[in-house]
Amino acid sequence: MDAREEKLLAFFHDSQPDISLADVDLARLPSHISIIMDGNGRWAKQRGLDRSQGHVAGVDSLRETITACVRLGVDVLSAYAFSTENWKRPQREVDLLMDLFAKTLVAELPLFHQEHVRLELWGDLSALPAKTYATFCRGLDETAEYSTMTLALAVNYGSRAEIVRASRHLAREVARGHLEPGDITEELFASHLYTADVPDPELLIRTSGELRLSNYLLWQLAYSEFYVTDTLWPDFDRWELLRAIRAYQSRERRFGGVGRG
Ligand code: FPP
Repeated sequence: MDAREEKLLAFFHDSQPDISLADVDLARLPSHISIIMDGNGRWAKQRGLDRSQGHVAGVDSLRETITACVRLGVDVLSAYAFSTENWKRPQREVDLLMDLFAKTLVAELPLFHQEHVRLELWGDLSALPAKTYATFCRGLDETAEYSTMTLALAVNYGSRAEIVRASRHLAREVARGHLEPGDITEELFASHLYTADVPDPELLIRTSGELRLSNYLLWQLAYSEFYVTDTLWPDFDRWELLRAIRAYQSRERRFGGVGRG
């Protein structure tokens, strides 16, 4: 057994009544798993806590999920951390989230270095508070060369805005005479999205039971399998991740074609 396998077995060594590591086929893992982390507020409310404590607890779930994906050998993990619509939340909560992003990134950088995780950020970062922006830049800078796994965080991200932004880039190229409208293909369009460097997610997980996309990766999720769990994000753990992967593996992906019968 090599060191990687040993770490994987150690991480998933105990099991749950309904799931264990043996229930997933390690040779057929999704290479990109994306998560809409939802339910922090409800988790806090159920416990009589402030919403902010739900977000703080959500960081532990994100850390556990990052580690689980690294151990499994997933290539890309992405997560919706803050949408363009989230600015409408009470200022106190927005400030707390921005502060939490900066603090979390500083606190988790050693994990990124240890596991060789590359950070990627999707969204309009120019609107973020200076401290959060600077911390994100530091994270991008320090992890740029790593290739064990990519962790992409969507921050101040909205999928429609992303598509409009890509359209503007391409329109500018056409206006300058560098491109013909007929040159615009799906591949070229995709290369102007924030997600240009990663494959489309094969699996989208949404926590807390909501059946909505919430303006997340509208282009990229065209053929993804969806897994919705009632579990609130702060309760999401390695076993929930395995359940989502097991569900994904039990489905057949057809890409609009005919199934294998
Ligand atoms: C959704 O729960 C969660 C968020 C908007 C924030 C997600 C952020 C974290 C989990 C922290 C992660 C940290 C980093 C560094 C990315 P909600 O507030 O919408 O919950 P509700 O629907 O129950 O109100």
